[in-house]
Amino acid sequence: MDSFIIKGQNKLQGTVKVSGAKNAILPIMIASLLTSGKSILTNVPSLNDLKNTAHLLRFLGAKVETELDQMAIDTVAVHHYVAPYELVNKMRASIYVLGPLLARFKYAEVALPGGCAIGTRPVDLHLMAMEKLGAKIKIEHGYISAECPDGLRGGIIEFPFITVGATANCLMAAVLAKGETLIKNTAQEPDIDSLIDCLILMGAKIEKINKNDLHVIGVDELKPFTMEMIPDRIEAGTLLLAAAITKSSITITNCEPNHLEALLIKMEQAGCRFEISSSLQGDIKQKKANQIKIHPAVSINPVDIVTEPYPGFPTDLQAQFLAYLCLARGKSHIKETIFPDRFMHVSELNRLGADIHVKDGMAIINGVSGFSGAEVMATDLRASATLVLAGLAAEGTTKISRIYHIDRGYEKIEQKLNNLGADIKRC
Ligand code: EPZ
Repeated sequence: MDSFIIKGQNKLQGTVKVSGAKNAILPIMIASLLTSGKSILTNVPSLNDLKNTAHLLRFLGAKVETELDQMAIDTVAVHHYVAPYELVNKMRASIYVLGPLLARFKYAEVALPGGCAIGTRPVDLHLMAMEKLGAKIKIEHGYISAECPDGLRGGIIEFPFITVGATANCLMAAVLAKGETLIKNTAQEPDIDSLIDCLILMGAKIEKINKNDLHVIGVDELKPFTMEMIPDRIEAGTLLLAAAITKSSITITNCEPNHLEALLIKMEQAGCRFEISSSLQGDIKQKKANQIKIHPAVSINPVDIVTEPYPGFPTDLQAQFLAYLCLARGKSHIKETIFPDRFMHVSELNRLGADIHVKDGMAIINGVSGFSGAEVMATDLRASATLVLAGLAAEGTTKISRIYHIDRGYEKIEQKLNNLGADIKRC
């Protein structure tokens, strides 16, 4: 099982490119099931979560080929409507196939995803949405069986709270449902906006009728698409925090600064400063900003954070920011409202010399002068990135085991960081 050995306290410098967004690509890969033909996705990183999703699509009969950062998905031969436990267990987001399979084939059988290190992760709102669109749902022997012999029909779905996955699933079902659908209280994440852009590219009729609601008019069929994937705001934020925690100045490129507002505001409160610019040449009037240079805080101010759905502070950057606040001059508080148990990284950070207590979904962080290298264990995707950040800042050597978690969502992270001056060995 792979580990990282990190020699800490190297300064980082230079420029690093942000890859395509895992959580935007996952639903778009599965949206290809809504049509019969060959769709092309570009700016696609090499990530295990995406490989597992490609494996699931192949299991359903699709052809998936990747070359460099391009992925081609041909769904002409899709003939299978079961997502088995051994695949769903590897990739919880496999539940996204429920909507497209029901919409296209009127039948789907998906293994009920289990929990994971950050919480129980129920899918009741995915199922509620499908029932509102006319599907009959049964759960037995660990599988969700869903059918709608007469096809899905439009309905009104109101989510009791923001859910990214159920919003995506519901959208992918509604676009082919007969009639009109109103989806209220939808997630606003950039991943959802990019899915909407993709579905419209395929011929779907979707409009935002106010900030949080979507109106969908069902169509008879959709066509294949070619689309560039948006940059990964969570990877971008993780790289900025790697610079901040090592008190380094770096530039990240191919990013979307607008997706990072909540993080940048909190990092500025901690004492960091940013230069936002465009690498685009030519006399483009409104040059699109796509790079950020960070000037790190010399002495880190304590900061209080509450994680919220987009555009609030993202839960997927909570662990990484928590590691940064371990070195602040004073006491910080982080309230995790999306996944209250998402603090598996705390005990590992305390092994590295941090002083953190967790109570009722709130972490209280007393700043310390520094981390001291030790052996620690990764527990989930973002927690493993957090341990890398702490290792970069730690005095001495840090060994992180079970780093297969990190390969799920970060493309060659040790190469990217070593190119900036870090000293990370994979063994
Ligand atoms: C997506 O998970 C992301 N995953 C997560 O990123 C991210 O942390 C999360 O959204 C929140 O932003 C992907 O996009 C593949 P939710 P998702 O539905 O869709 C509860 C990462 O690190 N809920 O927005 O599963 C749920 O338990 C991953 O890349 C229900 O109760 O999250 C949570 O408390 C980790 N019933 C809250 O809603 C449901 O049917 C928000 O979850 C669905 C969700």
